[in-house]
Amino acid sequence: MVAAAASTDTASTAGLALRIDNISHGFSLEGQRLAVLDKVSLDIAPGEFVALLGPSGCGKSTLLRLVAGLEPADSGNLLADGEPIKGPDPSRVVVFQDPTLYPWRRVRDNVALGLEAQGLLKTHSAKIDAALAKVGLSTFGRAYPRQLSGGMAQRVALARALVNEPRLLILDEPLGKLDSLTRIAMQKELIDLWQRQGYTALLVTHDVEEALLLANRVIVFSDRPASIKAQLTIERPYPRHRDDPYLVDLRKQILGLLGLADNW
Ligand SMILES: Nc1ncnc2c1ncn2[C@@H]1O[C@H](COP(=O)(O)OP(=O)(O)O)[C@@H](O)[C@H]1O
Ligand SMILES: [Mg+2]
Repeated sequence: MVAAAASTDTASTAGLALRIDNISHGFSLEGQRLAVLDKVSLDIAPGEFVALLGPSGCGKSTLLRLVAGLEPADSGNLLADGEPIKGPDPSRVVVFQDPTLYPWRRVRDNVALGLEAQGLLKTHSAKIDAALAKVGLSTFGRAYPRQLSGGMAQRVALARALVNEPRLLILDEPLGKLDSLTRIAMQKELIDLWQRQGYTALLVTHDVEEALLLANRVIVFSDRPASIKAQLTIERPYPRHRDDPYLVDLRKQILGLLGLADNW
């Protein structure tokens, strides 16, 4: 679609409906079968923000990879707006914990990668500036990754995802390596971006508080093989406050579900 650069913020980026239907998946490891996902079903509405929590190694990233179309599931169905997910698509992009920027490319040229891959660089270069503006890095387009802080590098990775105007933004512990102050600032930025852009968001985090601050719904997974242990709908408007007694109470509940109740 050749949309005018200025008007790309609404229709083309509205969220997609995601259906995860009875997904099971595993790997073979040294001749042994490792079951990783056990009959996971989850319906996510257009524009919804869903956070996934669960023990380390339970299968969260694996589920995200399947949703991104990076590998096919062993069994079950994955549907984006009712259509089977058969491979990666620019409408569904992943931001990982590590920003993985090319060190020899300037910020702008890193953000351009998605458009380049689609052969859209010449006609859509205004989108690069728009994406940099969205993450507050307009003046850093010509910088190299080594000249950025960790938080800025992660914002570049976010811009590189946003330039595709995703309808589903998949976030795999995107703030996991940031210091706690940068993390708090970026949690707010993630909410602002999501509210402005309207995409559906699927976030894996190991931070219960982060899940509660960001998501409409929090899914708690069991140990591997991951199955859904609990779902909590977070009935709170944004911006949320971490000392809100409602959230503090939910946090205790979730830590209990994760077997960590005694730690707080
Ligand atoms: N490509 C792979 N081959 C073999 N085992 C894998 C592969 N990817 C992940 N696993 C295993 O699957 C399990 C779940 O991994 P992952 O989805 O990364 O967990 P999480 O993101 O919840 O920490 C782990 O035990 C991991 O070792
Ligand atoms: Mg993971």
